[in-house]
Amino acid sequence: MYKFAWMKPAFGRAAGLFGAWARLGMAVMVGAVALPGPQAHAQTEPEAPQRISCAAVSAATCTVAKSLKRGVNFGGMLEAPKEGQWGATVMPAYMDVAGAHFQTVRLPVRWSNHAAVTEDGLIDEVFARRVDFIVDTLLMKGLYVILDFHHHTQMVGSKLHTGEYAVEERLLEKRFLNMWRQIEGRYRYRSPKLIFEILNEPYGKQTPARWNALAAKVVSIIRVHNPQRTVIVGVPYIGLSAAYDELVMPNDPHLIMGAHSYDPFDFTHQWVPNAVTCCSPDQRAQMVANLDKMAAWSVRTGYPVHLGEFGAIENAPLDARAAYARIMRDGAEARGMGWAYWDFVTTFAVYPKAANNWLEPIRAALLD
Ligand code: BGC
Repeated sequence: MYKFAWMKPAFGRAAGLFGAWARLGMAVMVGAVALPGPQAHAQTEPEAPQRISCAAVSAATCTVAKSLKRGVNFGGMLEAPKEGQWGATVMPAYMDVAGAHFQTVRLPVRWSNHAAVTEDGLIDEVFARRVDFIVDTLLMKGLYVILDFHHHTQMVGSKLHTGEYAVEERLLEKRFLNMWRQIEGRYRYRSPKLIFEILNEPYGKQTPARWNALAAKVVSIIRVHNPQRTVIVGVPYIGLSAAYDELVMPNDPHLIMGAHSYDPFDFTHQWVPNAVTCCSPDQRAQMVANLDKMAAWSVRTGYPVHLGEFGAIENAPLDARAAYARIMRDGAEARGMGWAYWDFVTTFAVYPKAANNWLEPIRAALLD
């Protein structure tokens, strides 16, 4: 089931495409995709939607959750197998712009491709210093930084990206934990505005049972030197709302749940332009329903939720992308949820690399 994504024709950027098909596969698996049948009825958004809860977390983590507010993903940069391989690097100007306009940067880092293939997973010091520099620059600008362990493809059982090296299967989990030992030790003295995210979009081999166990192990490793640092725990099945109930949060009061939302998927992920636009009443209802599920999960469990990824690809019509961004941003904020738009300068950009400037309608939708 997970593998059907690999059989799709190759178009678009391999990794993004792969992620997209994997997401769709997961959606079908957990029954989250609307299969042909009666049309869902459009709903109007309640005037006062349910807001996220902090009942199960410390006051400090609650403050962090409420302070994350508006954020952006530095996608396609340290996310690539090597920085620059996907055409984007973290430029000082990007950090300036982010610092001036957002409260949070989510920094996807592909640690696994910068570490020894042996069980110790010794992280390359040159790469780690590059990450230090970016993290510290962003922190100095007063931003919250979500340091996200992104794209360890073997951990989820997907195909290696071009330029990504393989690790012996039997070493994978121990090596992953050893990388976390190094990361948590390295950043132990950083400000509480630095947040760790255990693994982006667990799915595939990370079945809910495995993921719940792994997340608990990573949290206990992080607690060795970071007893109170806020940690984001993602949802199994790539963060789909239908899977929230399968997530068992580790027993720890400094956690936030990390949800992603890319519905309507045929609109947000048109790697080949398909003329799907946004946002009809039914599409809007789908988007709002996801946000409502996040808030309802939070109220039920007492853990706050962060919307760590949402966004629409550059192939979609610009006015529709802006309408989509506005609904998601308003909807997250109405529920008291911090959000991070995917992404800053690459395929879903609000500040496209080629223009080296804002894409005004999306900027306005997110920030005005
Ligand atoms: C993936 C990216 C992809 C994006 C949108 C992210 O989680 O890491 O490669 O472009 O989602 O699908």
